[in-house]
Amino acid sequence: MLHLRSYLYIAPLLHYSMRHLISINDLDREDITYILKKADEFEDVARGERNLRILEGKILGNLFFEPSTRTRMSFEVAMKRLGGDVLNMTAQEASSIAKGETLADTVRVVSGYCDAIVIRHPLEGAARFAAENSSVPVINAGDGAGQHPTQTLLDLYTIKRECGKLDGITIALVGDLKYSRTIHSLIKALALFETKIYLVSPDALALPDEMLEEIGGDVSRARLSEVIGEVDVLYVTRIQKERFPDEEEYRKVSGSYRITLDTIKNAKDSMIIMHPLPRVDEVDPAVDKTKHAKYFQQAFYGVPVRMAILSEVML
Ligand code: NCD
Repeated sequence: MLHLRSYLYIAPLLHYSMRHLISINDLDREDITYILKKADEFEDVARGERNLRILEGKILGNLFFEPSTRTRMSFEVAMKRLGGDVLNMTAQEASSIAKGETLADTVRVVSGYCDAIVIRHPLEGAARFAAENSSVPVINAGDGAGQHPTQTLLDLYTIKRECGKLDGITIALVGDLKYSRTIHSLIKALALFETKIYLVSPDALALPDEMLEEIGGDVSRARLSEVIGEVDVLYVTRIQKERFPDEEEYRKVSGSYRITLDTIKNAKDSMIIMHPLPRVDEVDPAVDKTKHAKYFQQAFYGVPVRMAILSEVML
């Protein structure tokens, strides 16, 4: 991102030279604060209330090797509302991937067609590998159970917008903490702020021990019923069915947790419920009508946040 500014010997605004955005670990607290502030300035553009065409003439290449609705579309709308354009790789069956083309070759070619690439891939490490083969910035939109840094930035933006702060927040991370890349990214970013984190999951879906040790900070395992009155944010995730080594293991945990009106009856008035979506059965639709439900708002916040990221990598 800021490689251009560095070439011009202008002090980078971010500590990390954000040419690529592969892992949330690449950003520190100040970098995150900077991006969230920038996103705030784009909110009216994201809503279509202000015309701003700073990415006119720029093209984004979307390379999605896994299903996506929000991530792909919000990148696309962010680009278009800023005057830019988007190239979408067609379904894998209709592209040269089906002929056996390697990821490295696809990235080499596509990076010649556009100014930045967004990639989602089922293999952990694929986005970093793509960055090594790309002549333009690469943004990781999810690599297997690894990382999903742009989701984390929009999650943090949602908390900041809806709770007014990040420091001092108590958050419960609920569900598939083993395979959710949204959790693996978010938990690392939360640890950069003064947050209290409760991990709520069936044993079979617990956060891997090595990740727990790496994070440090105020993190503990809990039962939701014991902490629900204390939390500011309830962050719920879907069981990542596609990451299970076999169907039988998935069946054992399927349907093992569900947020209902009863689950949240002792919650604070101001408590918000977030979910990266898609939801399957882990949040009862009856919860949608409560003032706590913020997941659809959260999905909208993906637009200004991705505008901030795109303008950083492209300008
Ligand atoms: C998430 C993902 O792809 O990791 N979706 C998203 O980007 N909003 C969460 C999920 O698929 O469960």
